[in-house]
Amino acid sequence: MKLQTFALSALVGLLPLSMATPAEPIEQEGDDSDLAKRGARSCKIVNLNPGDNVNCRYGPHLGDGEIFGIPAGEKRTFACYENGDCVKGVCTWDQITILGTTCYVNGYYTDSNCSSKKLPKCKD
Ligand SMILES: *[C@@H]1O[C@H](CO)[C@@H](O)[C@H](O)[C@H]1NC(C)=O
Repeated sequence: MKLQTFALSALVGLLPLSMATPAEPIEQEGDDSDLAKRGARSCKIVNLNPGDNVNCRYGPHLGDGEIFGIPAGEKRTFACYENGDCVKGVCTWDQITILGTTCYVNGYYTDSNCSSKKLPKCKD
């Protein structure tokens, strides 16, 4: 009897520590509770057919060349918004930096987390 109990507790003691203690995320999003504070937001690419990409252009205008395509459904971090050409009545563009290059996605294609009420205006 005593031997069995000992064997069991020895087994439990051998469980890898990594299983018992999952890594804590280092970054805390504490700022989110302060609704008045604007900052970078993580937003999903919406209003596209699955498999399509939204154009990320070098400026907030439809004539500005596309630099990157971001696939539908992807979540990305946008820093601020800029006013520009309208797409279906949405005239703000959300700025993102990808691989060190800044580009803009029209707000029609980003979810409500990237509304101009939540993102700061870009400084020109
Ligand atoms: C909105 O953006 C914040 C800040 O990046 C992020 O923590 C949060 O998860 C986002 N919310 C949604 C619904 O995507």
